[in-house]
Amino acid sequence: MIYRLVRPALFALDAERSHDLTLAALTSPLARPAMQALCGPTTDDPARLLGLDFANRIGLAAGLDKDARAIDAFGAMGFGFLEVGTVTPRAQPGNAKPRLFRLPARQALINRFGFNNRGVAELVARVERRRWSGVLGINIGKNADTPAERAVDDYLACLNAVAPVADYVTVNISSPNTKNLRDLQQRDALDTLLSRLSGERDSLSDTLHRRVPILLKVAPDMDDAQRADIAALVSQHSIDGVIASNTTLDRDAVAGLDHGDEAGGLSGEPLRARTPQIIATWRALLGADTLLVAAGGIASAADAVAARAAGADLVQVYTGLIYEGPGLPKRLAKAMAAATPPN
Ligand SMILES: Cc1cc2nc3c(=O)[nH]c(=O)nc-3n(C[C@H](O)[C@H](O)[C@H](O)COP(=O)(O)O)c2cc1C
Repeated sequence: MIYRLVRPALFALDAERSHDLTLAALTSPLARPAMQALCGPTTDDPARLLGLDFANRIGLAAGLDKDARAIDAFGAMGFGFLEVGTVTPRAQPGNAKPRLFRLPARQALINRFGFNNRGVAELVARVERRRWSGVLGINIGKNADTPAERAVDDYLACLNAVAPVADYVTVNISSPNTKNLRDLQQRDALDTLLSRLSGERDSLSDTLHRRVPILLKVAPDMDDAQRADIAALVSQHSIDGVIASNTTLDRDAVAGLDHGDEAGGLSGEPLRARTPQIIATWRALLGADTLLVAAGGIASAADAVAARAAGADLVQVYTGLIYEGPGLPKRLAKAMAAATPPN
C-alpha cells in the first residue's frame, strides 16, 4: 500500500539512481524496524533442505544486494532466505552507465551491470556483522579482467573466502554481462569448473566441519540437449542444486518498446510463462533429490505456486520486488505455505 505511493517518485528517477537511493535507505539502522513494522512477522512455513532450515520458501535473488549491505532490512521483509552477490575476488566498477532500464509496460528490467561490486573481502566482513539469522546464500563470479582460462581460479578464491560465512554458495555462470561468462556452461569448461569446485568443497568440509552446499545458476537461453549435458555434470560432481534461471537475451517480448533493444539481460514478466516450463524440464533431468530453485518473472502468489507445482523447492524474486514492493515476499510465502503440505 505504502509502496504504491512511493513507487511513482522512485520510478520518476533514473533506474540506477533510484536503486542506489533505495539501497542506501535500506542500510540505515532504522530500515530493519521499519520493514518489520511494514511487513509483519515472517511467514512460518519451515522447510529443511540442503541440511538447512528455511523459514519459508521465498528468497531474494542475487544481484539486488550485491555487496551484502542491507541483509537485515531484506530479512525483515519476510524472506525465508537471501542470496547476496554476485561477488568477485577483487572490487570492480562494472560496465559504463546507463546500465539499468525499466520497461514498465511489461513489468520488466534490462540490466548490463557487469558484476559491479566491492570485492569478496568487504562482502565477507559485512556478512559477519549481520543480525538476521535466516539462510544466507552467497553468489560468486569472476572479475571482468580475469582471462577465461583463469576463471576457475576466481571461483575457487571466492569459494574459499565465503565458505566460512555462507549457508550455501551459488556459482554464477549465466550472467550475460561479463564477456564469455556463459561459455562456462559448455560441457568441457563446466566439467573442469565443477570438478575443481566440488573437490574444494569436500576439502573445506574437513576444515569447517560442515558441508557447504554448492548451487549452479544457469541461463534460461539453452536447449534441452544443453540442459541434459549440464544435469549430467551436476550429478557427476554432486552439485547440490540448480537455480533456473538468470536473465534472458531473448527480446521478442519487448520488441518495439522503449529500451526494448538495450543490450544486457531481460528480467521480470517476460520470463513468467517460461519459468514453470523450464523448471519442469530441469526437475525431469535432475530427479527428485537435487535442490531446484525457480527464478524468473515471479511476482504473484499464482506464479510462486506454479513454479512449486512444476517442481521447484524454493523460489526467488528480483524484478517482482521492484514493481510490487516489500509486501511481496509475505504474499508469496503465505501462498506457498497454503500450497505445500508440511514436511
Ligand atoms: C538489475 C539486476 C541485476 C542482477 N544481478 C545479478 C547478479 O549479480 N547475479 C546473479 O546471479 N543474478 C543477477 N540477476 C538475475 C536475478 O537474480 C534473477 O535470476 C533474474 O532477474 C530473474 O528473476 P526476476 O525475473 O524475478 O528478476 C540480476 C537481475 C537484475 C534485474
